[in-house]
Formats: sequence, C-alpha cells, structure tokens
Amino acid sequence: MTPLTHPADIEAMMADLALSAARSPDAYLASARTTLVRILARPDLLDRTRLAAPPEGLGRNLLFGTRAISVWAMVWSPGAVTPVHDHHCSCCFGLLSGSLRETWYRPISDSHAVATRDAVREPGYVACMMPSGPNLHRIANDGPEPAISIHVYGYDHRERASSVHRTYAVAAG
Ligand SMILES: [Fe+2]
Repeated sequence: MTPLTHPADIEAMMADLALSAARSPDAYLASARTTLVRILARPDLLDRTRLAAPPEGLGRNLLFGTRAISVWAMVWSPGAVTPVHDHHCSCCFGLLSGSLRETWYRPISDSHAVATRDAVREPGYVACMMPSGPNLHRIANDGPEPAISIHVYGYDHRERASSVHRTYAVAAG
C-alpha cells in the first residue's frame, strides 16, 4: 500500500514523538504540540488525495501507530459531528484545513453533560491535553467545506478501537 504521507519526513517526526511518550506528561504534550505545528506547516507532507473522505460523517485515516501513540488524519464532511465524549488517553489535535467547532462540556453524571463554551478552530490551531483534563468535548464541522485535522492519541490502535472513554448525552444547562 502506498503510504499516505511522505515517509522520510513525517514518519521520522512521529517516531521521535512516540519515543517522547515515555517522558513526563508535560514534556510529552510539549513534544506533541511541536510535532503538530511542524506537520501543519508542511501540508505537502500529507497526500490528501489518498485520504478516506466519505460524503457524510468522518473519515479516519491511520498515519502512524506504535504501542505508545496512534496518529490519524480525520476528514470531516460538512455536517460531521462527534458525540460528546472524553478520552482514556492523551489527545492532541491540529487543524490542517477547513474549520471545526469545538464545544466543551461539564459532566453532571456518568451519562449526561452540559455545554460550557465553544470556539471555532481554524487552520493552524493545535490543542493538547491529558485525559485528566477535564476534556469533555464535541467536535463538529458546521461549515460548508470539508475539514482535515491531525490527531495524536496516546493509545495503541491495535489494542483499542478508539480514544474515546465514554460518551454523554447533552443535558440542558
Ligand atoms: Fe476528542
């Protein structure tokens, strides 16, 4: 299979980042942020024509995976939206193209959460957090164009289906 990325550059960055996952949480998050900023600054590193981009919903494209991290390119069709969720692992992402609305929530039980704030993320935006966050959020593409984001999660994609710990229904604030 032809790789989705320019292997000499982007895989070296990701391999370095995977090694840094054994460092302290703050050191790892700083490395993840630096790596994402570098990737976003070099859009040529990713062959967008080879990314799964469904007409509806979210296309998940694995770029790199080790026991420590998994790196995905997510293609968001217009109208794509995640459930409200938190993570069992570190979660870092950066926006490559398009725009995404990120809404944050406060849990009021194990099953329900209320919205606290939201923001529209633009290309170049990078966020990094540990699961101790708090990090309940929902991401939506409510714009007219597809969006592409790069996500770095602290889990082994061969052992777990996703980075999501729990999903929540939205309760009135
Ligand atoms: Fe998330």
